[in-house]
Amino acid sequence: MGKVAIVTGGSRGIGAAISKALKAAGHTVVATYAGNDEKANAFKDDTGIPVYKWDVSSFEACCEGIAKVEAEHGPVEILVNNAGITKDAMFHKMTPEHWQAVIGTNLSGLFNMTRPVWEGMRERNFGRIINISSINGQKGQAGQANYSAAKAGDLGFTKALALEGAKKGITVNAICPGYINTDMMATISDDVMQKHILPQIPVGRLGEADEIARCVVFLASDDAGFITGSTLSANGGQYMD
Ligand code: CAA
Repeated sequence: MGKVAIVTGGSRGIGAAISKALKAAGHTVVATYAGNDEKANAFKDDTGIPVYKWDVSSFEACCEGIAKVEAEHGPVEILVNNAGITKDAMFHKMTPEHWQAVIGTNLSGLFNMTRPVWEGMRERNFGRIINISSINGQKGQAGQANYSAAKAGDLGFTKALALEGAKKGITVNAICPGYINTDMMATISDDVMQKHILPQIPVGRLGEADEIARCVVFLASDDAGFITGSTLSANGGQYMD
């Protein structure tokens, strides 16, 4: 049976693929976004998936936004914490602003989004939380001390919450994508891509957003009820944990 799903950062990149795949699987999907109105509205027109704008790094904004979504669509049963940003810099050039922005969105964003839906999931004895972490939270990445720290934190959050949710029918899992063909890759110079990234991927290509979306659809399904606290790596063989 279709469920109400919310996908953060769900109108672009991996998030857009996740939103569309969950909808195709029969769920009622809403997507959140933080900044790009034009892309979000185009996504809504294309897919019929409603979009809501708020910043996941603000707890108040998340509480308000989720209350609105629940009033309009019903209780959230599936939460996909996908919203993420990069502010890459070698550490000797990294500023407190680079650090705070990435921790605020990529790590605190998970607290801010999950806390307001958690009590309802406990009461209803059902929930699916899927956190999009990263290969770089597992292995570390030069130029990403902030991002790697946040994404590794997402894995600890996933495991702790899985233990709390287990008796209440709530599963909490993480997916660690490798390098996926999205706008985020455009921030990497061709030189770094050719020299340092592509040669490290055994399958010899970037991943596609749909390949991550299919993992989400499975973890969100009733079939995945025995899977909780796990980390699903989808990285073309680049890192095996
Ligand atoms: N591993 C090892 N060394 C690396 C490296 C890497 N991945 N990337 C860069 N270096 C080296 C460079 O070759 C260079 O060495 P030399 O001075 O000896 O040539 C040195 O580090 C400095 O690099 P830059 O000249 O590129 O320095 P910069 O200050 O101009 O840029 C940077 C720094 C922005 C971090 C840039 O190196 C960069 O973009 N690196 C890639 C970081 C990365 O992989 N980000 C992932 C983004 S995708 C993502 O985050 C999604 C996900 O979940 C996977």
